[in-house]
Amino acid sequence: MKAIARFKIGLVLPLFVVAFSACFNNDEFSDSGINVEIFAASVGAGNGGVLGRTDGSRRTYVLPAPATDGAVSVEAALANRRSQRLFQDRAISMEQLSQILWAAYGITLPSADAQLRGGLRTTPSAGALFPLEVYAIVGNVEGIEPGVYRYVPDGHKIVRVVDGDVRNELMRAALYQQMVGAAPAAVFFSAVFGRATARYGERGIRYTYIELGHSAQNVYLQAEALGLGTVAIGAFIDGAVSRILGLPANETPLYIMPIGYFYR
Ligand SMILES: Cc1cc2nc3c(=O)[nH]c(=O)nc-3n(C[C@H](O)[C@H](O)[C@H](O)COP(=O)(O)O)c2cc1C
Repeated sequence: MKAIARFKIGLVLPLFVVAFSACFNNDEFSDSGINVEIFAASVGAGNGGVLGRTDGSRRTYVLPAPATDGAVSVEAALANRRSQRLFQDRAISMEQLSQILWAAYGITLPSADAQLRGGLRTTPSAGALFPLEVYAIVGNVEGIEPGVYRYVPDGHKIVRVVDGDVRNELMRAALYQQMVGAAPAAVFFSAVFGRATARYGERGIRYTYIELGHSAQNVYLQAEALGLGTVAIGAFIDGAVSRILGLPANETPLYIMPIGYFYR
């Protein structure tokens, strides 16, 4: 019965969200003259006016070195991976967050070549251009202050770009998908398409989306191997998410992946 209930949630919720998100598609709203920015601004208004800003300290954490071996096989992680949407109110550790970020875009072959920005990664990348940016949205992670952090693969560190816990605002921008507010942390992906289109033209857009799939699957499998859960969320209001996370103008938001212990 539990499995059937979970299946139904897994099936119905995404369908609802995708249908709902179609109603809130930024472009559609712009085209029809409805001002999406008003909604976006109200979504972000609860953060005390510090959206996209820090106290200037740019607090940085050098993360614990990731493990390159573990107890769960790739086959078991593949067999058991499922999108999880019911998270426990329980902290994850800095080590777990570190491992997840490394799986997403961490360096596996360091290089001094400046173009590689640290070296080759866990994820394949067309032309090794690495058009993705990865963020950690921290709410309840042991040893890390709440905030939005940019992941810097070179040196395996995170640098705070927004102070404070933004999970509830992000949940509203993600069409009230409760798991965004409930999970203790999330990995967030954006794209700097220009890095790929400068070499590949329009095809660079395709390559960037493909690369996102590689990275996101790494996150799914790593979470599974750590006994954690995640879900790839693509339904959200772009402008609101960009504002809440303080994204630079050249970054396009792509995925929110809440991370945490879940109810089986
Ligand atoms: C591009 C993409 C966007 C998705 N967006 C959402 C989303 O906004 N909300 C959600 O709950 N699940 C989302 N999902 C997860 C799917 O609903 C889920 O993968 C699907 O139901 C299959 O279940 P499984 O991942 O457990 O195999 C998305 C998946 C993909 C690939």
